[in-house]
Amino acid sequence: MTIEPLADNYIDHRGIYLLSHSVGLPLNSSEQAAAAGFWQPWRGANNDIWTHWLGCIDAYRDQLATLLNGEKGSFCPQTSLSSAVAKIVDSLSLDKNKNTILLSEEDFPSIAFALQKAAGGGYRLKFIPADADTADINAWDQQMTADVGMVLVTHVQSNNGRQLPVRQITELSCRKGILSMIDIAQSVAILPIDLQTWFADFVLGSCVKWVGGGPGAAFMWVNPDIIDQCQPCHVGWFSHANPFEFDIHHFDYAADALRFWGGTPSVYPYVLAAHSLGFINNIGVNNIRGYNIKLADKIIQQVSPAELQSPMEPELRSGTLILHFGARQQALLNRLQQQQVHFDTRTKGLRLSPHLCNSSQQIEALISLF
Ligand SMILES: Cc1ncc(COP(=O)(O)O)c(C=O)c1O
Repeated sequence: MTIEPLADNYIDHRGIYLLSHSVGLPLNSSEQAAAAGFWQPWRGANNDIWTHWLGCIDAYRDQLATLLNGEKGSFCPQTSLSSAVAKIVDSLSLDKNKNTILLSEEDFPSIAFALQKAAGGGYRLKFIPADADTADINAWDQQMTADVGMVLVTHVQSNNGRQLPVRQITELSCRKGILSMIDIAQSVAILPIDLQTWFADFVLGSCVKWVGGGPGAAFMWVNPDIIDQCQPCHVGWFSHANPFEFDIHHFDYAADALRFWGGTPSVYPYVLAAHSLGFINNIGVNNIRGYNIKLADKIIQQVSPAELQSPMEPELRSGTLILHFGARQQALLNRLQQQQVHFDTRTKGLRLSPHLCNSSQQIEALISLF
């Protein structure tokens, strides 16, 4: 598939946009899709508003099921990963002998904050140190001690641009009777993910980054094998097996992941995200990743190994390159900013995320500034 002309599908913008790890760009057609899915049913001002809107949320779940190879019923819309984490933790009954949640110093802080608060309910957190090699399964094996009841695995840690071996880690946690929660915020729509090949219990993601679907459309996937163990506390009528039963004295959990849903949902974010997900699914994540590697390789060829902070090998690296130019760093950052290259920086260096919205010519223009 020829990916190059696809950049024209993204909104016209100034400069070279390399921030898809933060906010992915919308498509030219996104506003029109939002008008059709959200505004038109509302403007129709009849009994069918919710039928249309719920149809859009259904389409969102269908697109996620295609993207990640799961059943639609295992996906529940969420507003953010952090709130999904909190709901998951308080839905599980605690085994006093396995009340440690294992995570890593390199995980995204928001998720750790949510876990810390949930830990108030009797869990304790244990962090894998920042200098441990979390790509090495032995680091996980050593830390998965008998007291660990749950593990958080961040597929792509945003500060170091590397992939973790989720299949291996979840296979190990499964063997040790430890529940697993996988954060795919930085990998969804850029790394191929097949949920059927993982041994995960919960998977959390959102559409604001590589999907280009805007903020507010997050999701959780719950393994159908454990759904009956989950008794969420934060519920509403959309968590009910029959939301329209309207018996105030009777609550029955939805049989699938929708038990985690809650009260009246928002709609607009899911309309937008479903549209962008459809675009991603049409192209296919394998093709998108191939294009990302091609553009990233062009950049890698122009920097020294010492300047590349993220892994060199495509199978270890994420969609994001992290570069540090040592003594030249500040001058280079200034030059990139002056030339309207859009990027951000973290302690390890500047983060550049080549995606469908970028052309090869843009990457060549970027390189000429190094
Ligand atoms: C790895 C990772 N997880 C989670 C998030 C966001 O979490 P939330 O949806 O709770 O804001 C980010 C945002 O940058 C992230 O990089």
